[in-house]
Amino acid sequence: MANIVTSACCVVLAAVVVVYAQRRSQQGGRIQYEMIGSDVTMMCGTLESDASVTWKVNGTDVKADKVEGPRLILKEVALASNGLYSCFENPTGDLKDQITLRVGGE
Ligand SMILES: *[C@@H]1O[C@H](CO)[C@@H](O)[C@H](O)[C@H]1NC(C)=O
Repeated sequence: MANIVTSACCVVLAAVVVVYAQRRSQQGGRIQYEMIGSDVTMMCGTLESDASVTWKVNGTDVKADKVEGPRLILKEVALASNGLYSCFENPTGDLKDQITLRVGGE
């Protein structure tokens, strides 16, 4: 009997560790490559579509008209759109994701 309890406990613990590791790696930053002139959507981690977030690029707020729920939508990106994009969940301000945008040509 004690064995069942112990194993159930380990399974739960392992699941928690896996979920935690996944969360960490989502925040760890990734790189998104896009072509010049394309429309780009960046997704803030795995938040629900009704989540409210604030996006920053290079540390400054992105205009709210580019934000739809947890998504950031950039039309016709150019080289100047490159940068480090971070999203913060409202109202806690928790950092949820970081994406480096690399716009390239040809
Ligand atoms: C972010 O910083 C990089 C490097 O300084 C710059 O090239 C880029 O244009 C900046 N991006 C935005 C959207 O301001």
